[in-house]
Amino acid sequence: MIRRIHINQLRPGMYIHDLNCSWLEHNFVRNRFAVKDAETVAKVRAIGVAEIDIDTDRGADVVEEPPVAPAAARPTSVRRFAASSARVVTTDKAGSPVERARRLHGEATRIVRDMMGDVRLGRQIEMEKIEPLVERMVDSIFRDQDALLPLARLKEHDDYTFQHSVSVCALMTAFARTLELPREVIREIAVGALLHDVGKAKVPDEILNKPAKLTDAEFEKMKNHVVQSKIILQGTPGISDIALDVAAQHHERYDGTGYPNKLKGEAISLYGQMGSIVDIYDAITSNRVYHKGMAPTEALRKLLEWSAMHFKPTLVQAFIRSVGIYPTGSLVRLESRRLAVVQAQHADKPMQPTVKVIFHADGRYLQPEDVDLRRSQDRIVGHEDFATWNIDPARWLPQ
Ligand SMILES: [Fe+2]
Repeated sequence: MIRRIHINQLRPGMYIHDLNCSWLEHNFVRNRFAVKDAETVAKVRAIGVAEIDIDTDRGADVVEEPPVAPAAARPTSVRRFAASSARVVTTDKAGSPVERARRLHGEATRIVRDMMGDVRLGRQIEMEKIEPLVERMVDSIFRDQDALLPLARLKEHDDYTFQHSVSVCALMTAFARTLELPREVIREIAVGALLHDVGKAKVPDEILNKPAKLTDAEFEKMKNHVVQSKIILQGTPGISDIALDVAAQHHERYDGTGYPNKLKGEAISLYGQMGSIVDIYDAITSNRVYHKGMAPTEALRKLLEWSAMHFKPTLVQAFIRSVGIYPTGSLVRLESRRLAVVQAQHADKPMQPTVKVIFHADGRYLQPEDVDLRRSQDRIVGHEDFATWNIDPARWLPQ
């Protein structure tokens, strides 16, 4: 049967019957062909057509997502979660670790949003609101980091700056914990991470949310947010030097190519160096209007590559240990050609996390099954992109 589908529904295993555009507009030799792999999907998407025709007799059909059982029901976006969490009376005792982490993530986003709004109006940061929040974030990471960290990747465009701050806070806490820093130091690092971009409150909205590449002049204004963060935090009673370092140095680079002060090597404090690694990791794994977020494993590979210049290699390696080679919440392909979402890390076996098998590369959903890869014949052969398979990442977060 010939079926017209949206380009977002295209997956490996399908057979394209018609690309619905003239051959002049694409580089494919033929108009009809089997979509063998994710790379072909990406190439077809790059043509820019909205709809194509597939032949379901010669390849896979569109797969509807299976209904979710009530117990496993998941909000499909952080926004929905944040909206519902706004009505919940806050307590860290009710619900599963994951439910608590979700509530905390939504609440943290709201607190950062309010705080940035206050700063924009020239008001001071209220540390009495920030400190208890940070304490709960640190607690959550120490209790079960697999609950809070996967939420870091789900962001809404207009909430990006706030959610990025919350994510960097969670990731920095996990990183500091891996480095076995004292708890008091970790708390200060987390404060600095949550507030590192507060200077963006002073950057005009049209630059902050511009859905395209910034001009040189705009980029200069954007870069100024670091200086602003430092000024704002220096004027905040109760801010430690550690928190200040995270915020003031998160755009410095180990080879001296960063800003605002072009600090080099160990002239950048440990906290500033950690901030620069985490900030870029969260930025490149996030979806923005003008670029698609990288898969976490791919982003970690990039960080290692860049550590030849921009970051200290041993510190990047420690960060990778803290989030896992295949971070929780990411999609992986197993040797059995099944696709699975990483659910939990095992510090002693970073290549063998516990995963939830959900899909077969043939193009069909499977009965979800948790598999501890330490006790399985199956193994991870690579990372995959949720968008390529049209799978909603929010549905398959750890339970
Ligand atoms: Fe920044």
